Amino acid sequence: MKKILFVTAEAHPLIKTGGLADVSGSLPKALAELGEDVRILIPNYQAIKCAEAVYFKSTVRIADAGRSVDVNLLETRLPDSNVIVWLVDFAEYFGLPGNPYVDASGEAWPNNAERFALLCRVAVEVAQNRSYLDWQADIVHCNDWQTGLVPALLSLESRRPATVFTIHNMAYQGVFEKSAFTALNLPNALWHMGGVEYNGWLSFLKGGLAYADRITTVSPTYADEIQTADYGYGLEGLLSYRKSVLSGIINGIDAEHWDPAADAYIAQAFDSKTLAKKLGNKTALQAQFALPVDKKIPLFALISRLVEQKGIDLILESLEDLLAEPLQFVLLGSGDKSFEQQLLAFAERYPNKMAVKIGYDEGLSHLIEAGADVFLMPSRFEPCGLNQIYSQRYGTIPIVRNTGGLADTVTDTLPESIANHTATGFVFNDASPGSFTEAVKRALLVYSLPKVWKQLQVNGMKKDYSWQESAKHYQALYQDI
Ligand code: ADP
Ligand code: GLC
Repeated sequence: MKKILFVTAEAHPLIKTGGLADVSGSLPKALAELGEDVRILIPNYQAIKCAEAVYFKSTVRIADAGRSVDVNLLETRLPDSNVIVWLVDFAEYFGLPGNPYVDASGEAWPNNAERFALLCRVAVEVAQNRSYLDWQADIVHCNDWQTGLVPALLSLESRRPATVFTIHNMAYQGVFEKSAFTALNLPNALWHMGGVEYNGWLSFLKGGLAYADRITTVSPTYADEIQTADYGYGLEGLLSYRKSVLSGIINGIDAEHWDPAADAYIAQAFDSKTLAKKLGNKTALQAQFALPVDKKIPLFALISRLVEQKGIDLILESLEDLLAEPLQFVLLGSGDKSFEQQLLAFAERYPNKMAVKIGYDEGLSHLIEAGADVFLMPSRFEPCGLNQIYSQRYGTIPIVRNTGGLADTVTDTLPESIANHTATGFVFNDASPGSFTEAVKRALLVYSLPKVWKQLQVNGMKKDYSWQESAKHYQALYQDI
């Protein structure tokens, strides 16, 4: 049994903005089931929702920007598990309304460098057993830029646990002016080209990439892609230099939370043997979005952060053509205001074909997965992606671009893959409206062949997406270091 400190900026169901929360809420549980002693360390945001009791554990003194501060460590549990969660309680940084990264008006917190440097410094004290928790980590598992300074700071300790840094998304790097490095009083030994310096700026992400003993990312294909200029954001050189310690481990899903046979959020439970019941969800979804209730018409869906990564521009450019086809389209998401407005404008023009809900709605996201026929994920890049996996579990056929985890989890529908029962969706290559629309047309064609369509659904629903396999890969990695 290893002691693993899992440091993250979000974890479902405590706090979630995207897939990082899904992973942080389910991988530690899977590791605990394999016998590891995992503790999650996460900021005690004002918006956090702890279902279990919260206890005070200790107070630790931290060197913050130009001063020393006392930070409380609170303890709770991940619901339905024995995984202990330690909350970094420092109201000045985490006690205001907003989400982990932006304030209530949607602006990035102006003190994000200080906020996450504090999280990192607390992680170091906890990892080194200097925070009165009587627990010595063997491994510190860090996730994304918010935790990037942990491997960097730990590298300066003479005795320390091994470090793993998982990249969930290279597009977010935590880059700040050099003055932030100085203001944060970070050790000068870290400021060089092989350290946290990135073209004269401070990069939290680079701290993780340069100093962690092992680097992982959330799919094998993305692990290759980030070693190229198209996906590496200037860090491809460092990543290929470190490729002997870099690997891709595909995400699993919380198979209890995302189970069409036992999902409290959906209208009608179903599984691969009772697929006809999925229709009850389709009609509920159409009604909820005030679209004509019609069991026959193919219902397309998208749930996403509305940002460029997700290919929302491709959708917008293709929408006119798409809506000329006999289909309906529902969309749930929030993000870029210009994307939101353009999508809403389309829905207004095509009230019988398209409906949009701007916002974040967990229950509705489950009903959409259960009720839709087709799920769109034309991402420009996608480290792993979870919705295409949820879709397959719910008999909803994904249309995805051939990139990252989408390429690794969806099998294109071709004569061979139909013959050998592996086809689960539609995959296209170019990030162009033409290539995307082509895939939509292929899907519509197969939708008109109910037997083949049902085979795709069943193929997807029978795949094993649980964490068991992937958690074993992490376990092997921990063992190795
Ligand atoms: P990313 O982490 O890049 O946003 P993922 O596919 O890994 O992409 O994970 C996104 C997660 O966030 C999924 O669980 C998805 O259902 C959820 N999600 C995204 N937008 C919304 C929304 N508007 N309402 C509810 N859930 C959402
Ligand atoms: C990131 C990626 C997404 C991935 C998620 C969880 O947010 O954008 O592809 O599934 O992290 O690893």
